[in-house]
Amino acid sequence: MAESKKRIAVIPGDGIGPEVIREAVAVLERVRETHGVLLELKHFDWGAEKYLSEDVTLPEGALEMLSNEFDAILSGAFGDPRVASNKHAEDILMGMRRGLDLYINLRPVRLMAEHLTPLRDRKVEDIDFVVFRENTEGAYCGAGGFLKKGTPDEIATQEEFNTRRGVERIIVAAFEYARAHNRKRVTMADKSNVQRFGGDLWQRVFKEVAARYPDIEANHQYADAMTMYMVLNPAQYDVIVTNNLFGDIMTDLGAALQGGLGLASSGNIHPGRVSLFEPVHGSAPPLAGKGVANPIGSILTAAMMLEYLGYDAASRAVEEAVRQSILERETTRDLGGTLSTAEAGAAIRARIQNQ
Ligand SMILES: NC(=O)c1ccc[n+]([C@@H]2O[C@H](COP(=O)([O-])OP(=O)(O)OC[C@H]3O[C@@H](n4cnc5c(N)ncnc54)[C@H](O)[C@@H]3O)[C@@H](O)[C@H]2O)c1
Repeated sequence: MAESKKRIAVIPGDGIGPEVIREAVAVLERVRETHGVLLELKHFDWGAEKYLSEDVTLPEGALEMLSNEFDAILSGAFGDPRVASNKHAEDILMGMRRGLDLYINLRPVRLMAEHLTPLRDRKVEDIDFVVFRENTEGAYCGAGGFLKKGTPDEIATQEEFNTRRGVERIIVAAFEYARAHNRKRVTMADKSNVQRFGGDLWQRVFKEVAARYPDIEANHQYADAMTMYMVLNPAQYDVIVTNNLFGDIMTDLGAALQGGLGLASSGNIHPGRVSLFEPVHGSAPPLAGKGVANPIGSILTAAMMLEYLGYDAASRAVEEAVRQSILERETTRDLGGTLSTAEAGAAIRARIQNQ
């Protein structure tokens, strides 16, 4: 159990962000009582509203403040129909991911109750793996350009970056996680059959790193085949490691396998540094303010953050409370229940116990 008080920056963001983050914060307050978790929360109003009224996205000095004064960040989602450019979301979210060098995007895919998966005849133990998505390079670096834009001869290039350092550290993180969590297998996905250069680097580094972990089985699949196998035989996966683009696609599929975006949690992590935890879903503007958004993605995200901070028992207690609420069908409408966001959050909090 961690001993010193942990400082958490809470950034609810836009749309349904504030509603779901409110429930995640209430869960953190509950584990303060049940598990003696020592947390100090500070809220920040960064998001579309601040951008529109003050022209501020990620405030100056924010990254230094987060690094120096906080242990973790709990964030909602960013995106507002009034900001067509999505500038504030890009500045705030990508700013934190890149600026804090949060190179691991960790996304668990775990089925909590059989009725939630769209796959037929799958048991909870069949869908239980984690995806390590490279989070700072790959195809999402914004490098490229246009030539002869708007003409029939237009050329658009979109570049992908794979650095030796970047590829190695995400693969090492996946193997370290497998070892620490008693997972047997790490599967790397790429398209090295056609993306010859980046793929070649991923292949070489994967083999080198795997040799350092003889206790863990290392295997490889092409990314397109993996999307098929995730549906046909998800039980084969323990830990998946892949690049930014493929990880983005795999984890949306993963979210669907476990019951939908409303349930999916994620961490943007740099081990040993301030790290950012956020639900996978976006700001879902059509749902905002209606009290219908599912708070589970944010609550499981808070549980991930608790584990990162060393509060393992509290983290497990939150997950168990979520599982029980789902099994009792005390959920929001997207999971077939009838509860509001606040009622679903309360149902989970009431089940958090220190065993
Ligand atoms: N990390 C982020 O901040 C992030 C991620 C994705 C999208 N976005 C932004 O969010 C806005 C909306 O994007 P989108 O519609 O493509 O994705 P979205 O995740 O907001 O919504 C996709 C679908 O999932 C449903 N959904 C999402 N979260 C839910 C929840 N908690 N409970 C119940 N249903 C839920 C929505 O109703 C919608 O049908 C855009 O501005 C986009 O840029 C932000």
